[in-house]
Amino acid sequence: MAQLTRPAPASAGWRLARSVTTELIRPGDSDECGGELSGPGMLNPRSEDAAGQLAKFHTPEVVFGPGALAELGHCARRLGARRPFLVTDPGITEAGWVAEATGRLQLAGLHPVVWADVTPNPKDHEIEAAYQEYAGTDSDVIIAVGGGSCIDAAKGVAILAGNGGTILAYEGVDKVAQPIPPLVMVPSTSGTGADVSQFAIVTDTAQRTKITIISRTLVPEISLVDPRLLTTMPDDLNAATGLDALTHAIESFVSRAHNRLTDHHALHAAHLVTHNLRRTISHPLLAEPRICMAQGALEAGMAFTNAILGITHAMSHQVGGRLDAPHGVLNGVLLPHCIRFNAEADARPYVPLAAAIGIEAGDRPAQEVADEIADHVRALADDVGVPKGLAALGVTEADIPTMARTTLYDACLATNPRDADAADVETLFRQAL
Ligand SMILES: [Fe+2]
Repeated sequence: MAQLTRPAPASAGWRLARSVTTELIRPGDSDECGGELSGPGMLNPRSEDAAGQLAKFHTPEVVFGPGALAELGHCARRLGARRPFLVTDPGITEAGWVAEATGRLQLAGLHPVVWADVTPNPKDHEIEAAYQEYAGTDSDVIIAVGGGSCIDAAKGVAILAGNGGTILAYEGVDKVAQPIPPLVMVPSTSGTGADVSQFAIVTDTAQRTKITIISRTLVPEISLVDPRLLTTMPDDLNAATGLDALTHAIESFVSRAHNRLTDHHALHAAHLVTHNLRRTISHPLLAEPRICMAQGALEAGMAFTNAILGITHAMSHQVGGRLDAPHGVLNGVLLPHCIRFNAEADARPYVPLAAAIGIEAGDRPAQEVADEIADHVRALADDVGVPKGLAALGVTEADIPTMARTTLYDACLATNPRDADAADVETLFRQAL
């Protein structure tokens, strides 16, 4: 069985994961396709048929596969780098990936500056300190090597470099007006999707919450996905980020902003994560499950950056900002409850998801199938060591009213398929406690 190499020369000739073919027709889609396409000069741009089928899909250039890190110098050079600014953290440095990355940059004739002080759930003041270093060293292209925290911090530096001001001022959708420096992202986890997304999540340390910045300018130029980097993740981070990827897949598939281009990636990502996450824990160096998880995280990222997310993320951002708890673990705890909540209003989108996950729907009611998906997610969370409830992560009853109120302002709630008010969110928090 092929195994992945840790920081050292990469092997060639890896076998790519087999794909699955999944039925993509969702309830309602076949009706929308029933009409005929209009000829030249006959398009009515206000026609409901045309509007219902329009889809946009942003994605970076992707360099994917074991050994991809060797391309880093070439990628940065193509974007005009002379002094790239590499954002990372102490764990990635200790694992040896920063040395390999800077070596590749130097081989390409570049002079990297390394900022290695990112902490989990990157803080507003960390991003502002990193930006001062970026500006003071006359750096240009911004590179992140690390998990979602490093990638989000790198995006934060890029926002300040192009737009000035303070990072919290960019909360919300399309507040980043000016162009930002080119971004090259090298993810070290299989989950966050930050390397392909138009999202950056930053901790507001004064308010003890997380803010979501959404802007198409944040989609990186290049995502360089080397599954070798996944082998130095601790098991708990692997579990958390894997469940985050599954949450991205499920929330983007049922999102109000989904489209046929995102559906395919969301379903395939749900398949890859549910069939491979356990194997990456039992066989950490085995190539195929790691490659499948890297692909699953990538496809879930492509899905959610275009279809956006839902109530699970809107809620987990509040807990993450308040308690500095791991994002993916919070999603793993919340997701089964949120699936049941959404399915009460319309369970039909969960039927194709069940097929992707490997659940036999048969002729059963969609509601029953959705319940089984929720159970399946909880069983996966159990198997990878995620606590049963939020109380084990430090959440108390007293936290709930405030977190429920701030959930309503989170940008991810707008695309949740079911409307939710503060009372609904409080109920969900209590169920998940
Ligand atoms: Fe997430």
